Amino acid sequence: MLVKSRRKHRPGVRNSELLLMLLSDQPSLMTSNFNQEGIILINIFVQDLDNQVHEIQSREGDSLMEVLRKHEWGVAAICGGLCSCGTCHVYLDAEWLDKFPPTDPDEQDLLEVFDTRQENSRLSCQLRLQAKHDGMRLIIAPDE
Ligand code: FES
Repeated sequence: MLVKSRRKHRPGVRNSELLLMLLSDQPSLMTSNFNQEGIILINIFVQDLDNQVHEIQSREGDSLMEVLRKHEWGVAAICGGLCSCGTCHVYLDAEWLDKFPPTDPDEQDLLEVFDTRQENSRLSCQLRLQAKHDGMRLIIAPDE
């Protein structure tokens, strides 16, 4: 993510002070972690089908599905994110639901055919992670 600031370069201002000034323009970034390339890191907590909770780290802009399918306990995501298989189905903790855009008609249609659908169901392939999702908790839905 590129952070632009309207602040001008100030001779004598150290980089760390400049970084704090930039972050103060972006309050959501103040609590974020960054890697050495300056990319925002997001920690999420995932409960697998064996009820084991894993803390995993992702980067801002990652597809939640891509993050989850890297793990053997994660999602299958057999259609690769085309919103046609439903094997990336997850349940988001209620407090995180409104931190993502609402379901679009294709996602809604696919979720409606699942007996395992709940109010907090989402297809992880339709969700992109942002700094505001740091600390999110979710559960991998059982296979249909
Ligand atoms: S990966 Fe197939 S619907 Fe999400």
